[in-house]
Amino acid sequence: MEMNIFLQDLIKRAGEIALKKNGKLKIDLKGKNDIVTDKDIKIENFLIREILKKYPDHSFLAEEETFKNKNLRLDEYKKTKFIWIIDPIDGTQNFACNFPLYGISIAVFAKSETTKSKNFNYMSGELLMGAIYIPEFDQLFFAEKGKGAFLNGKKIRVSNTEKLEESMLSTCLPEAYKKFNVPKLLKAIDKVRSIRLLGAASIDLAYMATGFMDGVWIFGAKPWDIAAGVLIVKEAGGEISDSNGNLLDLFGKDLLATNGKIHKSMIKMLASA
Ligand code: IPD
Ligand code: CA
Ligand code: CA
Repeated sequence: MEMNIFLQDLIKRAGEIALKKNGKLKIDLKGKNDIVTDKDIKIENFLIREILKKYPDHSFLAEEETFKNKNLRLDEYKKTKFIWIIDPIDGTQNFACNFPLYGISIAVFAKSETTKSKNFNYMSGELLMGAIYIPEFDQLFFAEKGKGAFLNGKKIRVSNTEKLEESMLSTCLPEAYKKFNVPKLLKAIDKVRSIRLLGAASIDLAYMATGFMDGVWIFGAKPWDIAAGVLIVKEAGGEISDSNGNLLDLFGKDLLATNGKIHKSMIKMLASA
């Protein structure tokens, strides 16, 4: 089975685990307003086990594993060509409240000797594939570098909205960035047509890529929140940078994704607050 088929099949199987509501969810606190459930861990373990069965020499950057083992040496990744970037449940707060907007997000990063990229701040390479699956809606977003972006097999494209005043945007408010982002949010509320707070960074990006929204800005996101979404947005014709318009760093906790047409005006708006 090719890697693209394997990834899409795998993420749907992970979705089935999320949908099986058997027994009471066990919820632990990782930090202030930051939770993890036993399902997050179950899905992450399932994904790593299945990927290793097929690709024993690949490595992982997975949310819960990284949380457990803060000393995970980035150098280890130097040994392997492919790194799977995994968020077993993005939108855990939604998931824990039975709010259906949560998804599984998986990206494959391929190291390359020649491509210089800020995508990983310790090595060069590129995002090869990205998949986001929203089990409650059976929505599978998938992109492969150079081959376009798809929702359940149908090609998707970013919106055509040209004016910020006519745009619908979304953002995230993670604990550590509330104070920093609220003034920018207030500014945006004043300037644009409407704002959404979905509670799952990967879904912000997938829905923006589909044209449901025109732009997304996110502070504080980790690589597993955004890696798959970044590729999906790019392949859907969108533009990606940090909020100043510089090359995105997946570890940089600063992301701007738009339909391209409102990119410059969003940079200006965010800088002015
Ligand atoms: C969170 C969500 C949220 C974003 C946070 C993430 P989690 O992921 O994507 O929208 O604001 O920064 O940590 O914890 O639900 O996987
Ligand atoms: Ca996440
Ligand atoms: Ca998560």
